[in-house]
Amino acid sequence: MSIQRPARRSWAEPWKVKVVEPLKMTTRAERERAIVEAGYNTFLLRSDDVYIDLLTDSGTSAMSDWQWAGMMMGDEAYAGSRNFYNLEETIQKYYGFKYVVPTHQGRGAENLLSQIAIEPGDYVPGNMYFTTTRLHQELAGGTFVDVIVPEAHDPLDERPFKGNIDLGALEALISKVGAKKIPYVCVAATVNMAGGQPISMANMKAVRELTDKHGIKIFLDATRAVENAFFIKQREPGYRDKSTAEILLEFCSYSDGCTMSGKKDALVNIGGWLALNDKDMYEEASNLVVVFEGLHTYGGMAGRDMEAMARGIVESVQDDHMRARIGQVEYLGRRLMDWGVPVVRPIGGHAVYLDAKAFYPQLTQDQFPAQTLAAALYVDAGVRAMERGIVSAGRDKQTGKHHYPKLELVRLTIPRRVYTQAHMDVVAESAACVWDDRAKATGLRMTYEPKYLRFFQARFEPL
Ligand code: F0G
Repeated sequence: MSIQRPARRSWAEPWKVKVVEPLKMTTRAERERAIVEAGYNTFLLRSDDVYIDLLTDSGTSAMSDWQWAGMMMGDEAYAGSRNFYNLEETIQKYYGFKYVVPTHQGRGAENLLSQIAIEPGDYVPGNMYFTTTRLHQELAGGTFVDVIVPEAHDPLDERPFKGNIDLGALEALISKVGAKKIPYVCVAATVNMAGGQPISMANMKAVRELTDKHGIKIFLDATRAVENAFFIKQREPGYRDKSTAEILLEFCSYSDGCTMSGKKDALVNIGGWLALNDKDMYEEASNLVVVFEGLHTYGGMAGRDMEAMARGIVESVQDDHMRARIGQVEYLGRRLMDWGVPVVRPIGGHAVYLDAKAFYPQLTQDQFPAQTLAAALYVDAGVRAMERGIVSAGRDKQTGKHHYPKLELVRLTIPRRVYTQAHMDVVAESAACVWDDRAKATGLRMTYEPKYLRFFQARFEPL
């Protein structure tokens, strides 16, 4: 009798392991204690108590031997480090922007851009909010307006580019408040809070045409733009034979600059930048950066960190790297879908998102279903995930009421080049066990709520 062989796997990693980091294995009783101590917030767990850490893909990548070798080439001069010039040239080459201001991480760049571009009373449209991005826009006196396509809010909608901007909604905002009140459109690629969904090249071009008519700038949140480029290669007609690097360059060419967290696509543990094409804006940013981050040739990074990031960018745009990266995330997502566990579709770039509303229909959103689910996952097998629902959404800055996002998700975020396929199997098995136990969940109550970005430090107890 012959056994049916599975289809050949095409996403295997283009690297092998040279150094390993042993993990502590914990018992269920230990994890039950740890989650209580952490106030049911996975951000407050000690990483030593975590087995598979899918909290975030931010700063958690494994660097290559070439990047580590670059760390030894750090030029730790206060001013004019050679590593800065290498980083600047690399960003110019792969992202295509003229001017580069280094920052310690993405939110440093968001702060600079928001301070420079936004006046009190302005509106900043974008394809779904991101936590730090929106907060910096608000701190600068702006109001974020969500203009993502409606299907982005539906976890089951299978459309390939659920990160797209709704052009009608953007046009309506321009007519309503006037172009002068809109300093720029903030375009995220991919869209983290929508499930890591990409935006298409066609949509990006159309946004450029529309904003050009009104003299409005576009700034990318390029944090995962390489992953976005790979999705365009996979899904958009006309791009299959182009390289990820070519697609990235074309994509960025429709914008006026970007903020960047190098801790994601760029395969480093720390770093970011603001890139600009406008000389006046650049001069203002390179002046302001000395107040918040450091001199404009290091921006809060050591020389060695800038070198690692420059090399990480080169590695990040390789098609084979991206195929394995996206392939691994897809692998985990497929497993869960095959077992009937509810996840956001299609599977996104950096994470698989569990649909907590579908897990726990017995809970209201005020009972924090996603927070509950993330805690349950940790207790089950030591897998650490992140809430991306009502806690992350925070409160309305005018009314002080909770934002009630349509999506109430738990993010299983895959660090780059860190975990194996067997680890992904453990995660899938654990999520399936928690799914089987779903009827037992009773929800949480918030006992401590910090003022800014509450999801990081809020505490909870069971209801
Ligand atoms: N933009 C996006 C889309 C992000 O995902 C992040 C960070 C930032 C900006 C801010 O960058 O952390 O370097 O200051 N996201 C992390 C996450 C924290 O887990 O999704 P940062």
